[in-house]
Amino acid sequence: MPIHDSVLELIADTPIVKARRLDAGVCELYFKLESQNPGGSIKDRIGLSMIEAAEKRGDIKPGDTLVEGTAGNTGIGLALVAQQKGYKLTLVVPDKMSREKIFNLKAMGAQVVLTRSDVAKGHPDYYQDLAAKIAEDTPGAYFINQFGNPDNPAAHESGTGPEILRQMADAGGLDAIVFGCGSSGTMTGLSRCFARQAPEVEMILADPVGSILAEYINKGTLSDKSASWMVEGIGEDFLPSISDFSRVKKAYAISDKESFLTARELLEKEGILGGSSTGTLLAAALKYCREQTVPKKVLVLVCDTGNKYLSKLYNDYWMLDNGFLERQPRGDLRDLILRPYSQRDTVVLAPTDLLVTAYQRMKLYEISQLPVMDGDRIVGILDESDLLLHVYGDEERFRDPVSTAMASKLEVMDVKSPIEALLPVFDRGQVAIVVDGERFLGLITRIDLLNYLRRRVQ
Ligand SMILES: Cc1ncc(COP(=O)(O)O)c(C=O)c1O
Repeated sequence: MPIHDSVLELIADTPIVKARRLDAGVCELYFKLESQNPGGSIKDRIGLSMIEAAEKRGDIKPGDTLVEGTAGNTGIGLALVAQQKGYKLTLVVPDKMSREKIFNLKAMGAQVVLTRSDVAKGHPDYYQDLAAKIAEDTPGAYFINQFGNPDNPAAHESGTGPEILRQMADAGGLDAIVFGCGSSGTMTGLSRCFARQAPEVEMILADPVGSILAEYINKGTLSDKSASWMVEGIGEDFLPSISDFSRVKKAYAISDKESFLTARELLEKEGILGGSSTGTLLAAALKYCREQTVPKKVLVLVCDTGNKYLSKLYNDYWMLDNGFLERQPRGDLRDLILRPYSQRDTVVLAPTDLLVTAYQRMKLYEISQLPVMDGDRIVGILDESDLLLHVYGDEERFRDPVSTAMASKLEVMDVKSPIEALLPVFDRGQVAIVVDGERFLGLITRIDLLNYLRRRVQ
């Protein structure tokens, strides 16, 4: 391996891995790990191409301000290149994006402007429209505009496409590729490359349920209605101006639930930690593979790393909260306990733990109250205000044991109590301590009840 002069030299030339344990029917499945780019996604490629092409044309020079509306990964690719080449960067990001991506962008020196994710194109707060406006209002700023920028597909036409064909030639060729479409740069660039160099390769689109693209491909109709979805980076409610769908003959619409469960299956079976869209692409690829009667070599893009989604789809509680994982319904208050004590899922304290430990545990798990357990018996509860009132004025008292600050007069609630019984407890500002006789089952908070009600609507 050569020693590189800059992290930018690590963009592209990503590895391909063959699936060993997933059931792909008669087909062979391969994964192209775009997650191995230095910014963790396929978008590093266009970050580089869109900035370098603008430099070559003389549109920008180091020190200038670049502006973009981005769902995150393009921002990281741009931030990486902007930082290395000395540009200022302002990014408009919809507020449904994972916190990890936003922290990452800010740490790389980008200015992040958060905007609403519940508005469509044409609304002034829509992330691309807002980015265009900021670029217009900022003297000398350059609007990157990945959705309309020909330097975006060009990165895939001259880079990703030939690279895939070269690599797959070693495996005996390529029959089909499964991809997603956000800005459509990947699809358009690959289409142009394959049209010339490998016209036999089938192009299969994986699209989130709610996006308009799958229906457009499969039926030729362009709906003016889209619904929301949670998978990040792919799916559209309009056709980007750089898009060229002419070589795409088949598309699969995949639900959020199937996407997330499939991404988890990929990690479990193949050890590949992909992002949420990887689940969508793999779910579509598996459907395609299982429909085939003759063996085919099928490549799936792993467009970004799952590291950015650890608190979402790889977090069981988040999956449960959103109804993507289910527990056996019990028909009583157990259905509302997110972290059952019996599964060792409840975060607890012992009466002898120090208050500083309690404080650290509250922060780590972002929980404002913790049950205090003596063996399997609940003996108290400690919340943020108990802790604050105890240590205020004498910080040395962080070293006192939990038993000195906890509330030990507990009102418990029997597991068979009706849900309405929770309301007066919450009204008093308390959490519900649910027991079955002597046995502590877990806590129910206001947000647990809200999540439960919301799941029932779904
Ligand atoms: C995370 C992510 N971002 C973006 C894209 C889409 O790329 P493009 O904007 O080139 O259409 C994909 C495609 O699968 C993706 O998975």
